[in-house]
Amino acid sequence: MSLNLPPEPEFGQAIDLVERQQGVLNFLATRRSASALALTEPGPDAAQLTDLLRLAARVSDHGKLFPWRFIVLQGKAKARFAEGLHDIAKTRSDAEKAQTALGKLINPPLAVAVISSPKPGNIAEWEQVLSAGAVCASLVNAASAAGFGANWITDWYAYNAAATTLLGLDAGERVAGYIYIGTAKDAPLERARPNLDGLTTVWGS
Ligand SMILES: Cc1cc2nc3c(=O)[nH]c(=O)nc-3n(C[C@H](O)[C@H](O)[C@H](O)COP(=O)(O)O)c2cc1C
Repeated sequence: MSLNLPPEPEFGQAIDLVERQQGVLNFLATRRSASALALTEPGPDAAQLTDLLRLAARVSDHGKLFPWRFIVLQGKAKARFAEGLHDIAKTRSDAEKAQTALGKLINPPLAVAVISSPKPGNIAEWEQVLSAGAVCASLVNAASAAGFGANWITDWYAYNAAATTLLGLDAGERVAGYIYIGTAKDAPLERARPNLDGLTTVWGS
């Protein structure tokens, strides 16, 4: 069953600036990731996943290059992928730790690998990578706002060459994040938050 979203605007359509949305402000003021290890069924169904990816792809993107793509991992294929990673983990010096880390991939019903896929041309690669990060954050937020638990994880297999080959990355591509989505049974606890006074300066004062 789809999420209850407005239709996607037509290309070139004038879009009304969104009115003040208290629900969105409340969500952003309290958002938290769920523990990936604790995510269980149900995850999004096919229609909900389509909607979530549509929301995630609606990010700022200098040059409209869409310098990212999604790889969906679910069901038996996700289990097969995890088995492949398990074999790769065995070859590592931290084999036991690397194998244990796979629980975050194995437990949730759905994983979406967000792939940074920079395009050649005038737009700085850094900006294209940032856009992929924005996709990850939007996907976590969209899934959370839709009532699922979600977490953005990288772990060793986002960086390991054999693991990214198994995932199917092309040359020049990198994993921006694995976004794990499912149902969180327990409410997350508030974590430490930064003191913004220490992180914010007013230039010129
Ligand atoms: C790029 C990136 C990679 C991350 N990778 C991991 C990871 O491998 N393992 C982990 O426990 N948390 C990881 N996190 C942190 C979680 O996604 C999450 O942000 C953290 O648990 C804080 O919770 P919050 O999102 O509720 O503030 C990563 C975050 C980012 C931005």
